Amino acid sequence: MFERKMILSKRYYIETWGCQMNEEDSEKLSGMLANIGYEKTLFKDQANVIIFNTCAVRENAELKVYGNLGALKKLKRDNPELIIAVCGCMMQQKGMSEEILKKYRHVDIVFGTHNAYKFPEYLERARTEGVQVKEIFEKETDIVEGMPITRESTVTAYVTIMYGCNNFCTYCIVPYVRGRERSRKPEDILAEVRDLVSKGYREITLLGQNVNSYGVNLEQDINFAGLLRLVNEVDGLERIRFMTNHPKDLTDDVIEAVRDCSKVVEQVHLPVQSGSDTLLKSMNRGYSKEGYLETVRKLKERVPGVAISTDIIVGFPGETEEDFLGTLDVVETVGYDTAYTFIYSRRKHTPADRMTEQVPDKVKHERFNRLVEAVNRKSLERNSACLGNICEVLVEGQSKYDPEVLQGRTRTGKTVNFKGEEELIGNLVKVRISKVGTFSMNGDRVV
Ligand code: 5AD
Ligand code: SF4
Repeated sequence: MFERKMILSKRYYIETWGCQMNEEDSEKLSGMLANIGYEKTLFKDQANVIIFNTCAVRENAELKVYGNLGALKKLKRDNPELIIAVCGCMMQQKGMSEEILKKYRHVDIVFGTHNAYKFPEYLERARTEGVQVKEIFEKETDIVEGMPITRESTVTAYVTIMYGCNNFCTYCIVPYVRGRERSRKPEDILAEVRDLVSKGYREITLLGQNVNSYGVNLEQDINFAGLLRLVNEVDGLERIRFMTNHPKDLTDDVIEAVRDCSKVVEQVHLPVQSGSDTLLKSMNRGYSKEGYLETVRKLKERVPGVAISTDIIVGFPGETEEDFLGTLDVVETVGYDTAYTFIYSRRKHTPADRMTEQVPDKVKHERFNRLVEAVNRKSLERNSACLGNICEVLVEGQSKYDPEVLQGRTRTGKTVNFKGEEELIGNLVKVRISKVGTFSMNGDRVV
């Protein structure tokens, strides 16, 4: 009886693959569902709406979606009322939504990244008409403001400042699935930040595929550095993060804004992708290894203690051992606090997919392992420098493994675990670092 009741009530389950943009989109989908009376569940078998918000950046992410979709067939058989929706970047690829609907007959709704705001309408149609609903907009729309949102955290929040990307790096599918760059108006961004602060949020992350080109298409005369300075003035806000940057566009005025604005943290994510000029050129990145290192030097000089993180791809078409050594050299020279490492994945319709010199899998994996070794060694080195220091930590929540342990982050974005009471969540506390690892640190609260 109990189980039946659970299924009859309005519950949704949402699974998100990919980047922070997708996470924020899922928070908006959750907001729309909350508006029409749905509650979130963490269990698929208790949901009557299941949403998969997909990522298309690498093949691996897509394979996971296929596997998970297959596994839903049984749930749908047991509960024919269940509505299954698939959305996100994967759906924006040519022919993909048709393929999903054909291969997975139990999927009820597919929609793309540009029309997520219409989800409640699709849900209603799937329910009342009992047909598969599909709508994908090929092109981006004007920005839809004022969408409801149910955020995952009560302490930190994402604030999207721009959508889309104009860069067309040759390996990347994002410009094809997220459309061209559009910036939100500064007044809309500020209103959202003020509203977040009034609800108790202490930290925000300004999001965009390339935040450095913020403002380009706006009537107002504003750029990213100007926006940082405006957001820095919001009373009650403690920390401002931003991501992601493009090395070719991270100009001096942004570095100076990071230096001058007390709320902007000392952490910059600066994806290098490769340390070989030949590859940077064929990736269409628009900077050289030396140009990148020069930006890093400026950052380190003007923002003392800055933590730098990056994204790196190994096995891009044509990558030679020498090219790869160039990448390892950047890792050694910069000494990243964190680096996200990726094996090149062929994406249909991108220029790199048509390049002839694809690197064999075995070579890709061998280089990947060497890269990970260097990246982890450097992260540990950087974290070791914090040993004994007293850091300011914004407490974000309890550890998954031990409710007596709290988890938070330093201004430089490092995860810190320490013993403390739940009441501290949402506060800035001082923690003396007593133990460091590659990915996180432990410490004791200092009062
Ligand atoms: N293969 C591997 N990694 C990729 N990325 C983007 N496209 C690909 C691809 N085809 C990586 C880049 C980017 C990050 C978000 O994902 O490093 O910065
Ligand atoms: Fe992809 Fe390049 Fe745009 Fe980043 S800047 S989203 S890697 S095309």
